[in-house]
Amino acid sequence: MEQGLRLRHLSAGYPKRKVIEDLNVPHLPRGKITVLLGPNGCGKSTLLRALAGLSKGQGELWLNGEELMTQPFARRAQRVVYLPQTLPAGVHLHVLESIIVAQRASGGLHSASGEAEIMHLLVQLGIAHLAMRYLDQLSGGQKQLVGLAQSLIRRPELLLLDEPLSALDLNYQFHVMDLVRRETQLRDIVTVVVVHDINIALRHADHALMLKDGKLLADGAPSQVITPDTLAQVYGVRGRIEHCSQGMPQVMIDGLVAESLI
Ligand SMILES: Nc1ncnc2c1ncn2[C@@H]1O[C@H](COP(=O)(O)OP(=O)(O)OP(=O)(O)O)[C@@H](O)[C@H]1O
Ligand SMILES: [Mg+2]
Repeated sequence: MEQGLRLRHLSAGYPKRKVIEDLNVPHLPRGKITVLLGPNGCGKSTLLRALAGLSKGQGELWLNGEELMTQPFARRAQRVVYLPQTLPAGVHLHVLESIIVAQRASGGLHSASGEAEIMHLLVQLGIAHLAMRYLDQLSGGQKQLVGLAQSLIRRPELLLLDEPLSALDLNYQFHVMDLVRRETQLRDIVTVVVVHDINIALRHADHALMLKDGKLLADGAPSQVITPDTLAQVYGVRGRIEHCSQGMPQVMIDGLVAESLI
């Protein structure tokens, strides 16, 4: 049975707007973080929502040898979790309650080991002190961390995180990517993360996809996908990849390819 995620002839979009057409991604590996890169409006969120079955898509999606498109939604929702880019308006629940709800939604029973798993996750994410706070009284970054806890507790086979770092400070950005990578390995799941920070992609991802206008421009190791050529083509910027004193690749942006937006 083929492991990982495979997309064949995937199309997705909205009633009056086709966004993704005939997208093919041969293999997204298990146990690895894939970053999904591309400019604003190129279709990243549309793609993740289609993978999760939250918007209409056509084509074939194979996850660990099973076709997702033909599965009943409830089964698919257990296997695939999507953390949206914009979190829903806060409900008046405690953080802890909201994570228990997420755990139950994916079939977890209320038990001592289930509770211990939640507390462990909150400690790992550095938000244990927020357990009894109300969701609608948290800061943007705190809400984003709780959203991540709700996603991880559901133990999906495919974890889709849409800009999970957008409200986080430098420390948490590093910490979250580190944690998500470790959990991805440990649970042997397929994780796809949308990020805009190219240096974070280079530092923390195992695999990268680059989209432009709903089409796949590059697919491979981050250092092969993020090049001066793709940066110019996709973002319209003149970039250099340099290695820092510790040997890590870093992208420097020198300017725009043309003095206008792409
Ligand atoms: N509900 C909608 N109805 C119609 N068109 C939409 C809808 N949501 C998004 N779009 C359009 O679909 C295209 C892809 O949007 P999408 O949200 O997937 O972009 P994105 O790559 O996630 O961008 P960003 O980096 O800004 O989040 C855009 O042109 C957008 O305007
Ligand atoms: Mg988006």
